[in-house]
Amino acid sequence: MSPDQIRALVRTIPDHPRPGIMFRDVTTLLLDPAGLAAAIDQLAETVTHKPDLVAGIDARGFVVGTGLALRLGCGLLLVRKDGKLPGETIAEDYALEYGTDRLAMHVDACAPGQKVLIADDLLATGGTALAAARLVRRAGAEVAGARFLVDLPDLGGSAALRAEGIDTASLME
Ligand code: PRP
Ligand code: ADE
Repeated sequence: MSPDQIRALVRTIPDHPRPGIMFRDVTTLLLDPAGLAAAIDQLAETVTHKPDLVAGIDARGFVVGTGLALRLGCGLLLVRKDGKLPGETIAEDYALEYGTDRLAMHVDACAPGQKVLIADDLLATGGTALAAARLVRRAGAEVAGARFLVDLPDLGGSAALRAEGIDTASLME
């Protein structure tokens, strides 16, 4: 499946969740068997060095993260919205295009020396992915890169991640 065919499966919902936001909805891509497989395969092909873990970000990042982890042969680390994980956690606050939130990770989910690839469906301001990167680094592990289905470059996320030294790639803009 070509990049244009994959892109055509992402739907835009105007004014969600706030007026003025053009919400790029990947649920329609996930519904398409060929589109889902091609998106994960093509995103995995951008990863040149196998990480130890893929960190999927709550919630749609779990889908992308699981696909990449299976494809790359890695374990999956869940970075969750705060208050959901049962064990001891560390947490980071962050701002995004339409509000603020807090992400948490089990403090023992990754360890010094491990390479962790961050995965999410979409990169906008980068606030979410940078909070996940701070969690991984606080645990002593290395951020091996970040991968997204969709990048909204005008919102500055990819530039912000690269400024932090994070190898960043996406399937479409
Ligand atoms: C969306 C998206 C990313 C984040 C990107 O998640 O799935 O996680 O926004 O925005 P940023 O680059 O500006 O941080 P959202 O916070 O809407 O949460 P959800 O996955 O639970 O719907
Ligand atoms: N997360 C932040 N901004 C978004 C957008 N425009 N579409 C989908 N998810 C988002």
